[in-house]
Amino acid sequence: MLIATVAKKLLALLLSLFLSLGIITGPSTADPIVLKDEENVELAFAAISDIHVNADSFRANRVSNVFTDVKNSGVDLDALVIAGDLTDNGLGCEFKALFDVLDNQDAFDKVLIASGNHDARNFYEKNNKLITDEMNKLLDIDTEGKPYYSYKMDGGVFIVLGTEKQEFERAYLSDTQLQFLDEELTKAQAEDLPAFVICHQPLKNTHGLPDVWKTGDLGDQSEQVREILTSHENVIFINGHLHDGYYEKSVCELSEGVYSVNLPTYTKDNDFGGIEKYVGYIVEVYDDEVTFSMRNFAKGENVDVTFSLDLV
Ligand SMILES: [Fe+2]
Repeated sequence: MLIATVAKKLLALLLSLFLSLGIITGPSTADPIVLKDEENVELAFAAISDIHVNADSFRANRVSNVFTDVKNSGVDLDALVIAGDLTDNGLGCEFKALFDVLDNQDAFDKVLIASGNHDARNFYEKNNKLITDEMNKLLDIDTEGKPYYSYKMDGGVFIVLGTEKQEFERAYLSDTQLQFLDEELTKAQAEDLPAFVICHQPLKNTHGLPDVWKTGDLGDQSEQVREILTSHENVIFINGHLHDGYYEKSVCELSEGVYSVNLPTYTKDNDFGGIEKYVGYIVEVYDDEVTFSMRNFAKGENVDVTFSLDLV
């Protein structure tokens, strides 16, 4: 009896050690990522959110699975987007665990990160410097210490927003940041490029709010952001934060040619809709549409969720 108990404990210990080292699981190669129309795709990227990396290496290794899966697939993706809650507690060791993974991957040319409330709710000044330094490093840009930036690629523009003050759940966007958003969207539209606005927190009254979470929205500037977005065309706002898997409210049209898409949480349990973890989207931009295909990067499998948004 005693031997059986000790053996069981030893097995559990080894299992957790192997899991934490990422030895046990790795994406399968049986169901690779395949773009719908490789010849005509104008931009293709992967998007995940709420990775909540903590001191344990398990979650950082699940992020590595994205890179392994993309490389296994031999697919040419232009970027990876991570829409905030990079860390669980905003600790220096958590940022280091993630940034070590991001700095040493060779699956994507570009990685775009956004700050989330878990990154900014503690040690704001220190963490904002860590995050903006990493943004600069990953994209070879200079945000001048601001947690927002834009990045133009062939086929689309990314505009990443972030809180400029320590807040527990919501975000504070200054008038300067709102003006920046408006100007960058105007430029994108003038160049006939779709714009992807990445912001950790969702807009008020989208994706089941406030019913799914009374205080789960962007906060005081939500209406101003919505007005700016809807005064342009071909804008896709992408948020995380809600920890909801795909369900009928995960995608909404804010006005013609302007949409909001909620990303599921990558490493934590999803509360609504699809409960599968380690999922995100492969996003493909074509002349007249943007397609989203859900992918389980840890398993290396497509998930049966796809949708398409029309460009005008
Ligand atoms: Fe989160």
